[in-house]
This record gives sequence, structure tokens and C-alpha cells, in this order.
Amino acid sequence: MKVSLIIAVSENQVIGKNNDLVWHLPEDMKFFKKTTEAHFVIMGRKNFESIPHKYRPLPNRTNVIVTRQSSYEAEGCVVVRSIIEAIEKAKEAGDTEPFIIGGGEIYRHALENDLIDRVYLTRVHENFDGDTFFPKLGTEWKLISSKKKHADDKHFCDFTYEIYEKEAL
Ligand SMILES: NC(=O)c1ccc[n+]([C@@H]2O[C@H](COP(=O)([O-])OP(=O)(O)OC[C@H]3O[C@@H](n4cnc5c(N)ncnc54)[C@H](OP(=O)(O)O)[C@@H]3O)[C@@H](O)[C@H]2O)c1
Repeated sequence: MKVSLIIAVSENQVIGKNNDLVWHLPEDMKFFKKTTEAHFVIMGRKNFESIPHKYRPLPNRTNVIVTRQSSYEAEGCVVVRSIIEAIEKAKEAGDTEPFIIGGGEIYRHALENDLIDRVYLTRVHENFDGDTFFPKLGTEWKLISSKKKHADDKHFCDFTYEIYEKEAL
């Protein structure tokens, strides 16, 4: 099993503001849906609550919410107390590629604790004001794929789909 992380990041490492996303890129939303479909999606409690009610739980995926609260409940979701527990549940269920889908605290914790094998990073080629950031990936992460998309009438700026994997030591 490979544990992946999927994220969209601005040039100045912003990923969110006021518990919401800061940009709208429909093609990237489709990419997120297609990539994570049928898999476990592991998210922080704040990220889950930032998803509009009508879109949650995210369909056709096992939604796992990580919280320190002992009595937290969310209909149609699995609630766990740690990212490790979430990954264990994915493994037990036979998922080959569970996804860490944010937000900032969960991404940081997963990277710092070496829980991630692959990163799908959409680089949004603009700077934004925000209050939630993604750390710069360290040199152990190697870019294995990069596909640039140009701005058009539905996409206000250029963006690039990047995939990173950890170099085998
Ligand atoms: N650009 C992107 O790709 C992207 C993707 C996802 C989210 N976002 C953005 O990210 C922002 C939300 O991120 P955030 O950092 O504020 O919150 P978050 O990571 O979504 O959730 C934080 C919460 O998760 C729980 N938690 C965190 N670490 C934990 C641990 N080690 N063990 C157990 N529970 C833990 C805690 O819940 P309790 O307080 O309930 O204990 C904590 O308050 C929003 O702006 C959202 O739009 C951006």
C-alpha cells in the first residue's frame, strides 16, 4: 500500500483562508475527484467542516475524519483519533492508495511523521493572501511527473500538476 497526499498550493505556499479554499479551478477539482475516487480520503475535522453540506461526505470514497474529540460524529464517515489509525483502517480494508486530503495541520503532521509515499501537488501559479500554508517539500522528494495547464476562460491562471515520490535510500 502507498499512502498519498493530494494538495493544491499557491506560489507562496498558501492553501486556505478562513477555513475555505482561496481559488476555484474546475479542472483541478475534477482531477482531485478522479484521483481519489474509490479510495479512503483522510481529512482533519476542520477540512471536513469546510466542505459544503451538500458535497459531504465526498461520494464514492470512504471519508475518514481525524479529530481529538472523543464524541465527534459525522453521518456516513469514519471518525478516528489519529492519522495512523486512519491509515490502519485503509490497510485493513485493502485500499492500495489512501489519500491524505488536508488541511494544513493534517498535511504537516503526516509529512513530519514520514507517513507519506507520494505527493500529488497542483502548483497554482499565483500568490494569495491566506492563513493556512503547506511546507516546502524537502530534497528527499523527487519530481516524477509535471504537466502544465494554461489559463483559459474557466481557469484564471496557469497551474501545473506535479507528482513527487520519495527517493529510495
Ligand atoms: N488547497 C488545498 O489543497 C486544501 C486541501 C484541504 C484543505 N485546505 C484548507 O485547509 C484549511 C483547513 O486546515 P487546518 O490546518 O485549519 O485544519 P485541518 O488540518 O483540516 O484540521 C485540523 C483539526 O484536525 C484534528 N487534528 C489535527 N491533527 C491531529 C492529530 N495529530 N491527531 C488527532 N486529530 C488531529 C483536530 O480536530 P479537533 O479540533 O476536532 O480535535 C484539528 O483541529 C482550510 O482553509 C481548507 O480550505 C486546502
